[in-house]
Amino acid sequence: VEETYIMIKPDGVQRGLVGEVISRFEKKGFKLTGLKLFHCPKDLAEEHYKDLKSKSFFPKLIDYITSGPVVCMSWEGIGVVASARKLIGATNPLQAEPGTIRGDLAVQTGRNVVHGSDSPENGKREIG
Ligand code: GTP
Ligand code: MG
Repeated sequence: VEETYIMIKPDGVQRGLVGEVISRFEKKGFKLTGLKLFHCPKDLAEEHYKDLKSKSFFPKLIDYITSGPVVCMSWEGIGVVASARKLIGATNPLQAEPGTIRGDLAVQTGRNVVHGSDSPENGKREIG
């Protein structure tokens, strides 16, 4: 069965959106297979987002992800990787459709509440 890595980012935890995010994945029908609250160290944040290392916003992204605790989760189900990306919505919350997590709950790309793996391979890597 397919698995994906979903992470509620520091803004989502601080704003009290943990239950809301989990609820959306539960209601869709996916199965929660792992969960922990975790303060991500800088080196692991850089590894997680290594594909974005050349971007101008990379230092800000690392500061953001390490600014407070995150909720790390694995979710299982048929087509969960692509479906989770749909539930989460576009990277820029102002372009995310209403009904999606970012579309309903956020306004800034740099404070977009949640991360979801972009492929089954990255899902496996990120859960590890
Ligand atoms: P993730 O699920 O977090 O990986 O988001 P994504 O797959 O929708 O976007 P991407 O992997 O391209 O970028 C990762 C994260 O970097 C985004 O979720 C944003 O938090 C941040 N990011 C991307 N583009 C920008 C940008 O132009 N400015 C800022 N400040 N942050 C950005
Ligand atoms: Mg991404």
